[in-house]
Amino acid sequence: MCDHKPIVTIDGPSGGGKSTVSRALAARLGFTYLDTGAMYRAVAYACQEQGVDPLHPDQLESLLETIRIELLPPAPGEDDVQVFVDGREVGRYLRTPEMGMLASTVSAQPLVRHKLTALQQQIGAAGRIVAEGRDTGTVVFPDAAWKFFLDASPEVRASRRATQLRSKGKAVDEQQLLAQIIKRDKDDRERTIAPLKAAPDALCIDSTGRPVDEVIGLMYDRVTSRPCCCE
Ligand code: DC
Repeated sequence: MCDHKPIVTIDGPSGGGKSTVSRALAARLGFTYLDTGAMYRAVAYACQEQGVDPLHPDQLESLLETIRIELLPPAPGEDDVQVFVDGREVGRYLRTPEMGMLASTVSAQPLVRHKLTALQQQIGAAGRIVAEGRDTGTVVFPDAAWKFFLDASPEVRASRRATQLRSKGKAVDEQQLLAQIIKRDKDDRERTIAPLKAAPDALCIDSTGRPVDEVIGLMYDRVTSRPCCCE
């Protein structure tokens, strides 16, 4: 009996290229792409919109009891998955550095992790997904057949994120972005519950100075050259 599931996990700090790589790898493999960060951002957005203090357990609990989060494939011509909160598409509000910081705060709350981990496991139950996040290889899908940890220097990550934001027409202060990235990494790595770290069986890849296509090719080769008995 096989102990693994046909799931690819890609974890790592913000701006390491996870989203681009995960999307492309999922498309090449014919797997579904699961953006777990979008779910934490969705909860952060709901807190902000409803005036809920994420550090107040009672307020957070009632929000989590009723919130409905759904992810759908990108709209035609778009790259990012569509994120619905209580039936309303809110994707455009989620992908800002400020919402990333709030998502990081929200994600350290056990109530939130409990709810979203269960939702992610439900989505991944049928396998054939590429899940990206911080804890997908360690906590959400510990029995995934292929695990990666994607890192790069903070400077390179800040510069990539700046390019990404500018391409969407947003003004960027690169120094501030770098400071936010360093703070978010520290918080994500040092939190007590499901911290950002590589699973012991993950292949760690440093994407500093590596073209994105090379990283995708490396992952694709690894997955296809080591087929899982679970498939
Ligand atoms: O990947 P991202 O930048 O969209 O993630 C936003 C925040 O959500 C990140 O700083 C920490 C949190 N997160 C998490 O704790 N666990 C995950 N699996 C994914 C994201």
